[in-house]
Amino acid sequence: MNDVTAVILGAGKGTRMKSDIAKVLHPLMGEPLITYPVAACQKAGVGKAVVVVGHQGGEVKEALEKSAAGIGLKFAIQAEQKGTADAVMSAREVLGSAKGTLLILCGDVPLLRAETLVRLVGEHRANSRLVTVLSMEAGDPTGYGRLVRNRDGGLEKIVEQRDCDELALAIPEVNTGTYAVELPWLWRALDEVDSDNVQGEFYLTDIIALAAQSGGAGSYKLPDDNEAMGINSRLQLGEAARELRLRINRDWIERGVEIEDPFSTWIEPEVVLGEGTVIGPGCRLGGKTVIAEGVRVEQGSVITDSEIESGAHVKPYCVITGATVGTGAAIGPFAHLRPGAKIGPEAKAGNFVEVKNSELGRGAKASHLTYLGDTTVGEGANIGAGTITCNYDGVNKSRTTIGKGAFIGSNSSLVAPVTVGDHAVIGAGSTISKDVEAHALGIERARQRNIKGWTKKEQD
Ligand code: UD1
Ligand code: MG
Repeated sequence: MNDVTAVILGAGKGTRMKSDIAKVLHPLMGEPLITYPVAACQKAGVGKAVVVVGHQGGEVKEALEKSAAGIGLKFAIQAEQKGTADAVMSAREVLGSAKGTLLILCGDVPLLRAETLVRLVGEHRANSRLVTVLSMEAGDPTGYGRLVRNRDGGLEKIVEQRDCDELALAIPEVNTGTYAVELPWLWRALDEVDSDNVQGEFYLTDIIALAAQSGGAGSYKLPDDNEAMGINSRLQLGEAARELRLRINRDWIERGVEIEDPFSTWIEPEVVLGEGTVIGPGCRLGGKTVIAEGVRVEQGSVITDSEIESGAHVKPYCVITGATVGTGAAIGPFAHLRPGAKIGPEAKAGNFVEVKNSELGRGAKASHLTYLGDTTVGEGANIGAGTITCNYDGVNKSRTTIGKGAFIGSNSSLVAPVTVGDHAVIGAGSTISKDVEAHALGIERARQRNIKGWTKKEQD
């Protein structure tokens, strides 16, 4: 495949998406649509890949350069979106005198597999064709170009949905928008394509009829029509996400991950999961999250760009972003770990506990209703219910340090910057703004008075 060049078309606006952002920038499982066909080309091992950008071209380029698929990519600009044939023409200069097989893909067909591209090129070359179109038998052919064949079954032309008569509309075999085509023949063919059709656009599909005239057109039919679904509407984007989710989930299940409900769990493409891990229904795992072996993530948890070590237990409905969770730690239910939260081994951040830019040492516990921000909690410390670290004075953020084995009584406020020493105790309900030394009791609250017969007096 190293001698194959790929062109991916992504200049169109995507009017049918009814959106301000270019279609190919719409996210599919967290990644812009265009990154998928580009990644498939890279995985197939093409020697060179060119993306044609136009509508919001700067943003498309930037999105690709940020993604793993963007490595070594070239770009061409289609100034005015005059159709798919014109889009390919725009890449002519960047391709220069390239010869041999060119793969053409649409930026809005995200589920194509690299292996399919390799097979398409194989089929194309084995038959010495000018062009081979990747086709499929669509369950619902609406919106796709139809493959029109002659009496002997030979491919004659592709007719776009809007240019179809009744007879052509009934054809189930459609164009996936993916082609293997020979250079420099393509440039000669494109020179002949006109815009004499319902949309007044230059259709790339017209090259099929031109190749067919010299017996050089053929097709390679995909067995699975989901693989080449084109995204032209938001509903189709949702359908593709469902398909991709199932594909990813099936993959993880085969590798020994237990996904309790593969139909409701979202695992984005870059997430890594360990064997024996269990993922509950409705979880969403995204970004560069890494979950080790034997972890249990229960229902409804959303984990993004985080690392969960082996044997940890994430109880239902936790939100974990940019955090690390150590071996055997227990999180939630309903915990919120924000960027920079580092939960040590065997530690606990329980219900309604929010942790930001803070470390909990081994075995430390914050079991209920707590905010820990910019805080270091030593090994084995216990943070009582309702503890708040007051890390922000309206201008600056300051740190709180809690020593090993310290015990913070319930409903305490620790006003940062402040340090509570090892094995110190804070009396419940205290507002601590001065450091407390190791092994001391820090207590700050008014003495309780009980006024005898007080309600009786009122009633008299
Ligand atoms: C196209 C095919 C159709 C096929 C379908 C598969 C044509 C004429 N039709 O139709 O036969 O069944 O894909 O999904 O090719 N683009 C540009 N510049 C343009 C126009 C489009 O770069 O001027 C890009 C778009 O960004 C998109 C791709 O080309 O990624 C396809 O364009 P789209 O308008 O979606 O074509 P379809 O109507 O889906
Ligand atoms: Mg399309």
